[in-house]
Amino acid sequence: MTAPAPGSSHSLPVKGPRRVLVVGATGRLGVAIAEALADRGDEVLLTARDPNKLGILAQSLEQRGRRVKVPVVTADLTHRDAVTTIVEGLRAASPPSEGRGSIDDIVLACGPFPRTPFEDLRREDLERTMTVHAIAPLLLVHALAGDLAKGRGAVVGLGDAGTTRPYEHHVAYLTAKGAVKTGLRALAVELAPDVRVNVVELGIVADPEADADPLRQHRLATRSKLGRFGTSEDVVHVVLALLDATWATGETWGIGG
Ligand SMILES: NC(=O)c1ccc[n+]([C@@H]2O[C@H](COP(=O)([O-])OP(=O)(O)OC[C@H]3O[C@@H](n4cnc5c(N)ncnc54)[C@H](OP(=O)(O)O)[C@@H]3O)[C@@H](O)[C@H]2O)c1
Repeated sequence: MTAPAPGSSHSLPVKGPRRVLVVGATGRLGVAIAEALADRGDEVLLTARDPNKLGILAQSLEQRGRRVKVPVVTADLTHRDAVTTIVEGLRAASPPSEGRGSIDDIVLACGPFPRTPFEDLRREDLERTMTVHAIAPLLLVHALAGDLAKGRGAVVGLGDAGTTRPYEHHVAYLTAKGAVKTGLRALAVELAPDVRVNVVELGIVADPEADADPLRQHRLATRSKLGRFGTSEDVVHVVLALLDATWATGETWGIGG
């Protein structure tokens, strides 16, 4: 793409409410992000795997925010047709026009946190986790690149601090999170200057094993510089900041490490 003239407003986003797709919207961080976006007046569009959770979340968002209809698209990112399903669902719910896409921005907050003890690690674990966390999200951004560009949009992906400081029993997950981080940084180059792509690399907000084991929780929390697990508000703050950071792309913002 052609570089804008120095000092031009080429990279500034369109005015007014943004249309923001939240992927993994029904997760503990996805819900908090969708709520914060609705509260500040953005139009949110939601995708995840469970239609019931999506329906309940959409209904609750319609009762707050700007009370507009909140479109949902159900898709399992392990399925090969997931990206097509999501894009077609968005097109139907939020038809694009010449000047505006179905969405302006994307937040990637999807995927499971599978425990894969080293001795039992299988090819299927790696393939499945790579598909949900890296391959499908990268293909989704690719498929929506034109929409993002029309909106001078932004992509924010949730990464994991473990990709720079790995922990045990999660080879498949950490490999996938490393892949999506690198993939998003590569997309930042491909999509500049019209679309910005950044990553929030977070420490622990919730850890299923630590939640059940206060000693483990204490040990993990004290390993981080700020001495505590994060809250969803801690993460939301940085996601919104990166969506709005009009002079940042290809960056990784570490929090809670
Ligand atoms: N929580 C943490 O401490 C932490 C730390 C570091 C990084 N992160 C990253 O932050 C992001 C959000 O974490 P979270 O704690 O909010 O996760 P979460 O509560 O487990 O939620 C995961 C979300 O991903 C969706 N999902 C899972 N498998 C899917 C599939 N096959 N197809 C489509 N959607 C799928 C879930 O949808 P359904 O509910 O419909 O299944 C849900 O909306 C993840 O990318 C995670 O790697 C989290």
